[in-house]
Amino acid sequence: MNQKRMPIIEALENHKKKNPLSFHVPGHKNGLISPVGMDKIFQYDVTELTGLDDLHSPTDAIAEAQKLLSDHYNSEKSYFLVNGSTVGNLAMILAICEENDVVFVQRNCHKSILNGLMLAKVQPVFLEPEWDPVSLTPTGISLQTLQQAFRDYPNCKACIFTYPTYYGMTYELKLLIEEVHNHGAYVLVDEAHGSHFTFTLTFPKSSIELGADITVQSAHKMLPAMTMGSYLHVNNKSVPYKRIEYFLSILQSSSPSYLIMASLDFARSYLATYQSDDLIYTLNEMEKFKQSLVEMNTRIKLVESNDPLKILIRYEELTGYELLEKFEEQGVYCELADPYQVLMILPLLKNGAEHSYIQASQKINNALKTVTPKELKYIQPFYKDTDKKISTLSLTYREIENKDFKWVNLDEAIGQIAAKMITPYPPGIPLFVEGEEITGGSIEYLKQLFNLGAKFQGEHLLHEKKIAVLNKIGGNIK
Ligand SMILES: Cc1ncc(COP(=O)(O)O)c(C=O)c1O
Repeated sequence: MNQKRMPIIEALENHKKKNPLSFHVPGHKNGLISPVGMDKIFQYDVTELTGLDDLHSPTDAIAEAQKLLSDHYNSEKSYFLVNGSTVGNLAMILAICEENDVVFVQRNCHKSILNGLMLAKVQPVFLEPEWDPVSLTPTGISLQTLQQAFRDYPNCKACIFTYPTYYGMTYELKLLIEEVHNHGAYVLVDEAHGSHFTFTLTFPKSSIELGADITVQSAHKMLPAMTMGSYLHVNNKSVPYKRIEYFLSILQSSSPSYLIMASLDFARSYLATYQSDDLIYTLNEMEKFKQSLVEMNTRIKLVESNDPLKILIRYEELTGYELLEKFEEQGVYCELADPYQVLMILPLLKNGAEHSYIQASQKINNALKTVTPKELKYIQPFYKDTDKKISTLSLTYREIENKDFKWVNLDEAIGQIAAKMITPYPPGIPLFVEGEEITGGSIEYLKQLFNLGAKFQGEHLLHEKKIAVLNKIGGNIK
């Protein structure tokens, strides 16, 4: 197929050439009513007009664009998503899993996976990931953990992996997929951070190639697509893809954004036409940047990820949060910080393309000059307690739904059941999940993260050192 083509963008251009007068939604009327400087963008923000097809029932430009997508990723069928990987994760879980199905899930997953499990009312079995001692981050689950889980729960319906992790870390997914398939279960992969894994000489292999049944990718994270633009790929003929379409039609907006779809069409073409000389350029420019950082200051340490587009920057004796703040004071904005480091996501450039490495290097140099000796402190690595490799919820989702809750001091919460999801954000991996027993280790970890300046999503009273736990007796909500 001609991967240079971008059928949605072509359809939008054809429409624009007609100098159309808008007497339809959206209310900005082809950008006539728009904020200063944004009228050109608004002109492409149209609706399901003649010639522009319909995401929920594609037969024309969108259908063609999705075929090109499937062709590039070598999938059975591929879909554009306009509500992020979040909607893809929800749809794949709801399509495959029914109430009370046993589902294995890597515990360091995004909250959208946990929300999907809750909506489907399955019986989740959490598999604790291994820790990578170099990046100091959780990675994937071990084969031993998976094998033990199948011994404990042989009736598992599906296993959900997160690959790669937010930090770009990968693991032996092929072996795990084979193990799951040997037990007749489905493999669902949240590959939000791996949409660029088709250039396998340099990047890790995509879960599509490794045999996953369904793969969800946030094109907007690593490819040049607009925020929320994502892909869902079905890679196995036995997947009930009509059910996926059914849930996507329920969960996604009935007015999908043409701007997002156009950017998805562009991102696929950008990746599919990517050449070796583009890659060489990307890697060379990146190396020069990394070199400039390590030569700048002996206190800087770079940690490599499995994904070359991700680097972790540490500065001796500064927390990642403090380092991020220093960078931002100089106008360098990075993806996230954790207690030890800052995660930087680097661009996938085409040969000769502009980039901002030189300015970034200068600004980082300026930022580090402002670190005064009294700010220095040593950060001891700490981990969430991971003794228990396999765990479940203490109550079913139906039981949790109707339970009342109360606010208790952090130390009092140990041994009780979490009533609210609490998620350090980014990376969006919940520390507590509704219905999960709260351990002393996770409270300790929460306290340390909070004291170091981590940000949290979810309903909590952490500024008062309190979280919500389920009422044990007589607590059902009327
Ligand atoms: C691993 C993972 N999965 C899913 C998501 C949700 O993706 P989206 O923002 O595209 O909805 C994220 C977002 O950060 C993520 O990190």
